[in-house]
Amino acid sequence: MEQTDEPIHHPKQRLLRKILLIALTLTALAITVGATYVGTYRPAYRPAPELMIQRTAERVERGRYLVENVTGCMQCHTDRDWTLYGGPAKRSSWLGGGESLTPEQGFPGTLRLPNLTSDDETGLGRWSDGEILRALREGVDRNGRALFPMMPYHVYRHLSDQDATAIVAYLRTVAPIENPQPATDVAFPVSFFIKTIPEPLDAPVERLDPADSERHGELLANVAGCEFCHTPRNERMEPLPGMAFAGGRELEGAFGNVRSANLTPHATGLGGRSRDEFIGIFKAFAGDGGSAIDVEPQNNTPMPWSDFAQMTEDDLGAIYDYLQTVAPVENSVDSLRPSVDSRLTPVDRLIEARASNVDPVIGSQ
Ligand code: HEC
Ligand code: HEC
Repeated sequence: MEQTDEPIHHPKQRLLRKILLIALTLTALAITVGATYVGTYRPAYRPAPELMIQRTAERVERGRYLVENVTGCMQCHTDRDWTLYGGPAKRSSWLGGGESLTPEQGFPGTLRLPNLTSDDETGLGRWSDGEILRALREGVDRNGRALFPMMPYHVYRHLSDQDATAIVAYLRTVAPIENPQPATDVAFPVSFFIKTIPEPLDAPVERLDPADSERHGELLANVAGCEFCHTPRNERMEPLPGMAFAGGRELEGAFGNVRSANLTPHATGLGGRSRDEFIGIFKAFAGDGGSAIDVEPQNNTPMPWSDFAQMTEDDLGAIYDYLQTVAPVENSVDSLRPSVDSRLTPVDRLIEARASNVDPVIGSQ
């Protein structure tokens, strides 16, 4: 009988082989489908609303106020002057784009902090009003690319249609600045996960009842970034449970290394401070904006005191009213600032600095 090289399989073995083959094929298929899914996955978005926002004086002024004194778009979209207290944004490059984040700084890729001026080539000049509005609250650029969520669109989503369109109207009036920037290039798998976050708005966002101070304050405390900086977070930027506004979040950057303050009603937080005292902390920075305080390099604060100083007393008061409703958390925070007595509040520092400063402008007041 002729011998073949063909191995002789037991029927059971053959079955096993078949199962294995099917399993392998399925796995390969799953990987291919998965990779295609991951590669071609598009964030959820709707066509940009078609609208032409009328630039009435009132609307532009409302937008200016929100941008400069509440939402602080320039904190990211403009270079900041860290030689001054609180690092005010430079007027000379107003909204012309911030310095990109790079892998050397530990960022997963390159992140451009875009130019929001109306420059055609390097800014938003060619964007429609609807495209800017959609980017602001729904988190995709004009081509439907998901924005990296450092852009707090998921928070701005709660801005009413009136306020969001006012911001767009104001942006349109900002002087164009030509500032070529590197393209954003976020590495996998972060590039995939950020695509799952955008969510289209499917209904108008109504303005809150201004008489409802607490809810209004809650909105402000979110869109002004108070919650973001004053709530400790894990490495995935998720807020730590039970620690809302409890401070102690360590912030590091060109301003040095500091921890945010506890803003809860606990004695280690805002404690017994009255509404007027709270408003007073901010208003102390109006006028010279805190420039009396000497800042050595790496001994500054990222909290934009001079911008918030121009917030209306109603808005600051609403933030206070809301903060009084959050759970008190015991958390004594050492601000970490070197060479600064952390028991001194910013206002104490300001008063001390103004008293000891021979600045003629301040002296003549
Ligand atoms: C905490 C930082 C931060 C703040 C505050 C911020 N942005 Fe952004 N914004 C970003 C980053 C980062 C991007 C780029 C994201 C990307 O390209 O993936 C961006 C992108 C944008 C874009 C898309 C521009 C483009 O060319 O793709 C618009 C429009 C925009 N922001 C408007 C605003 C407005 C208006 C405000 C204030 C209401 C604001 N941003 C506040 C960080 C911020
Ligand atoms: C970019 C981060 C950042 C943002 C945004 C921010 N803060 Fe702060 N805040 C800090 C840091 C850091 C400190 C501690 C250093 C200092 O005094 O500036 C601080 C300090 C404070 C203090 C001083 C407490 C004291 O007396 O010692 C108050 C009050 C405060 N923040 C309230 C707010 C409110 C209200 C908002 C929103 C309108 C806000 N902060 C937004 C980072 C921030």
